[in-house]
Amino acid sequence: MKQYIHSIGVALPNRIVSNADLALHMDTTDEWIQTRTGIAQRYMVEEESHTSLATRASECAFATTSIPPHTITHIIGATCSPDTYSPSLAVSVAHNLGMTNICAFDMNAMCSGYLYGLEIARGLLCANQSSTILLLASELMSRRINMNDRTTAVLFGDASTATILSTQHEGALAELEDVICCADGTLSNCLTLGGACGKPKAVGDSITDDFFIQMNGREVFKNAVRIMPTICEQILSTNGYTIDDIDLLIAHQANFRIIEAVGERLGITQDKVFINVHNYGNTSSATIPLALYEAKEQGILQPGMKVLLVAFGGGFTWGSALLQC
Ligand code: UT7
Repeated sequence: MKQYIHSIGVALPNRIVSNADLALHMDTTDEWIQTRTGIAQRYMVEEESHTSLATRASECAFATTSIPPHTITHIIGATCSPDTYSPSLAVSVAHNLGMTNICAFDMNAMCSGYLYGLEIARGLLCANQSSTILLLASELMSRRINMNDRTTAVLFGDASTATILSTQHEGALAELEDVICCADGTLSNCLTLGGACGKPKAVGDSITDDFFIQMNGREVFKNAVRIMPTICEQILSTNGYTIDDIDLLIAHQANFRIIEAVGERLGITQDKVFINVHNYGNTSSATIPLALYEAKEQGILQPGMKVLLVAFGGGFTWGSALLQC
């Protein structure tokens, strides 16, 4: 039973924060951020809730497919930054969209969340071919960054995406050919996001640093550049392909230097490597669907293309997927 992506919707907050804006509040420069990361700006919410942003992304996804909202059977929220643990982002968005009696839940695989979401969607579609899935890959990272920590505060941004998947071939954007997801907690302390139930808390306790994202950037960089090409080679060889069969590489958008290094190690030409991190920063689970959406809007993603997706994030978690457009 084949599985297909039908449409991808995106919603962004209204506020754009430039590197110069950040330099007003912390010891950094536009030059440092652009040279080290490629990021020029990011979007950050002001008052809008995560649920509202993700609802807008879902509406955007429904606007470009003939699949009607009432046929959705499952909503998966891939996020590390929901408004609340309960209700989950998926349940809150279902409520906003007027959906009841559906299966809705969140899961967290940090920056690999979209690929983990595709893996779960694939399993659900295999289990029941009449399922139709709304996969939210959506983050308000700005609510989880410590503005006193310049080593992380300049990297992240907010974005919401919604992907509709089903087993129907008609009207599809791409077939989901394969997905591989992995995790290894050996180096889990290199990238952490606390603020959960690891420590007892009492009313009135102040927020501690571990509520925010904390990262050993150099270690994450090194491992991302080592692991992403390996998982790409694994998914290619498992499916009988080589890198020459790939028309477009979309890697998790954390840093243009990581993306270029992954492309080089794979031996794919840079014109086949899509990069949009300069406009959005690292939006964690949302970067890959945001890049897919933009590649389609810009006419880069064309019917017939074979697309390789790859992500790496906290945990560590990582994954890769193959799409046939
Ligand atoms: O999405 C999850 C995956 N996350 C990633 O993939 C991120 C991976 N890591 C990276 O992208 C990079 O490691 C960073 C962009 C985070 C850092 O770049 P780097 O080239 O590894 O820089 P560094 O950490 O080695 O820091 C170099 C210098 C340090 O100063 P000293 O010790 O050399 O004096 C930092 O204190 O740059 C300093 N620095 C800054 N300077 C200005 C760190 N952050 C900033 C800043 N502005 N924002």
